[in-house]
Amino acid sequence: MTLRTATGDDLDDIMRLERASFPTDAWSDALMAGELASPHGRYVVDIEAGRLVGYGGVRAVQGAADADIQTIAIAADARGHGRGRALLRELLTTARSRGAREMFLEVRADNSGATALYLSEGFVEVGRRPRYYQPDDVDAVVMQLNLVAWEARTTAAPTAEKGWC
Ligand SMILES: CC(C)(COP(=O)(O)OP(=O)(O)OC[C@H]1O[C@@H](n2cnc3c(N)ncnc32)[C@H](O)[C@@H]1OP(=O)(O)O)[C@@H](O)C(=O)NCCC(=O)NCCS
Repeated sequence: MTLRTATGDDLDDIMRLERASFPTDAWSDALMAGELASPHGRYVVDIEAGRLVGYGGVRAVQGAADADIQTIAIAADARGHGRGRALLRELLTTARSRGAREMFLEVRADNSGATALYLSEGFVEVGRRPRYYQPDDVDAVVMQLNLVAWEARTTAAPTAEKGWC
């Protein structure tokens, strides 16, 4: 597992995985290109034997207290091996290093796998946005993580970090 910062050259591979992962509400190429170029975020890709098998992004403005997980996806045949968690932790670490104290994200109410990942990392549900995801008519669950407490937990348990990239 190799995690590195995404560049504009990764756009096509990211978009292939984006469309496969979010068949009904994938972002456009233009939106993703803007995300990759933004100085207010960081996108990370997971490369296995030269193939892009995962990506994720965080919006974390330098010095701002709040940050947001923008997206995260792992290729279907690479799921279940800790890659999603490793990517998520890399994004959380990035936001904390930029000064963020709270992390927010939105997840589809019917996405039990991603929700389990976020809960196990310490996120809690703080709200719901009814019928947020269209055309599927699915609610968004808003989740929040105290990044300061998260950092203290992960620093206090270094063995939990073994195996990261
Ligand atoms: C969500 C996603 C990124 C998880 O990636 P992953 O590499 O499979 O996740 P991991 O192997 O790191 O699993 C971490 C934890 O997530 C949870 N989890 C992941 N997939 C799960 C599933 N299908 N069912 C239940 N829990 C699941 C578990 O708590 C797991 O911890 P455990 O292995 O100790 O039980 C991946 O399933 C994915 O890309 N899904 C499609 C895109 C998507 O929904 N993105 C999230 C948008 S908010």
